Amino acid sequence: MMKTASSSSSSHAFPTTALLCTPYLLLVPLGLLAMVLVIPSLGSSHFRSDDALGVLCRGGGGYLVTPGGAAAETKKVVSRPELRLLVGVLTTPKRYERRNIVRLAYALQPAVPAGVAQVDVRFVFCAVADPVDAQLVALEAMRHGDILVLNCTENMNDGKTHEYLSSVPRLFAANPYDYVMKTDDDTYLRVAALVGELRSKPRDDVYLGYGFAVGDDPMQFMHGMGYVVSWDVAAWVSTNEDILRHNDTHGPEDLLVGKWLNIGRRGTNRYSLRPRMYDLNWDMDNFRPDTVLVHMLKDNRRWAAAFRYFNVTAGLQPSVLYHLP
Ligand SMILES: *[C@@H]1O[C@H](CO)[C@@H](O)[C@H](O)[C@H]1NC(C)=O
Ligand SMILES: *[C@@H]1O[C@H](CO)[C@@H](O)[C@H](O)[C@H]1NC(C)=O
Ligand SMILES: *[C@@H]1O[C@H](CO)[C@@H](O)[C@H](O)[C@H]1NC(C)=O
Repeated sequence: MMKTASSSSSSHAFPTTALLCTPYLLLVPLGLLAMVLVIPSLGSSHFRSDDALGVLCRGGGGYLVTPGGAAAETKKVVSRPELRLLVGVLTTPKRYERRNIVRLAYALQPAVPAGVAQVDVRFVFCAVADPVDAQLVALEAMRHGDILVLNCTENMNDGKTHEYLSSVPRLFAANPYDYVMKTDDDTYLRVAALVGELRSKPRDDVYLGYGFAVGDDPMQFMHGMGYVVSWDVAAWVSTNEDILRHNDTHGPEDLLVGKWLNIGRRGTNRYSLRPRMYDLNWDMDNFRPDTVLVHMLKDNRRWAAAFRYFNVTAGLQPSVLYHLP
């Protein structure tokens, strides 16, 4: 009952893995269908017509936000997209509920045209020590294929970002991305808006995010809410022994990334996306329509406010099975 279609943008991307691009609802056993429909965000506009069908592609893990339906199926051979972006959401194993919300937040985004971008999202952990968590995270890896476990001990400001940025060039060496992003599980990233920014940017020596001014340097480092480096910059981090020799991985991760790049004169193509990247304020009244990402979504109430503001559930079809005001 699973309908498969070869992916337009990435059939070459994961040569070792058969790629499944399946309309999301078709992944759900019929018995669960009614239950799933109760979840408001699953009924998004993606499912209203074939043309707008959102397709969640699994290939070697992660999501691929590509257009689905007839268009994708008829185009058998599609060249490499303009850009490929890996989004690493740094989180910890026990945050199951949050991860579920974040996963839906990515899965229900409007499609990015396949020729424009391939965007893969992974949840990034250090080693999963607890045997119960190891089992449950294994389920997620099997079901969603979006788990990346690094060789580190879980921490936030003790080298996890360094481990992430320096593992990715090796882990994906066979099929490099153009850009590597680090973000968190309290950030809502609007993928199409970010891709729109990246399209016109260089593919090399890039460091993009919410620029933090220090002294008279307007962009000394990018805030940890979410930043992007180009592949060459990640590769440079992965091979730079000075960072480890100077023990320069302990401390605020975002500030340290800026420090490494400043010392190494890397990431010199710097772009601050302020004010399109921002912290949601206490009153939750500073959302903006041109948001690239909004940070500080630290509880369900704040996530709900974001989904409402960005009309994520506006396309929910009326049904006798649920009433969700
Ligand atoms: C962890 O270490 C093992 C053994 O060195 C290696 O095979 C694996 O690729 C590493 N994993 C990551 C995510 O770096
Ligand atoms: C590196 O820094 C950490 C934290 O400041 C400290 O605990 C550790 O001993 C240092 N290691 C070296 C080799 O200096
Ligand atoms: C959400 O939908 C409303 C009503 O159609 C519209 O006015 C508003 O601009 C939309 N918000 C965003 C962020 O697109």
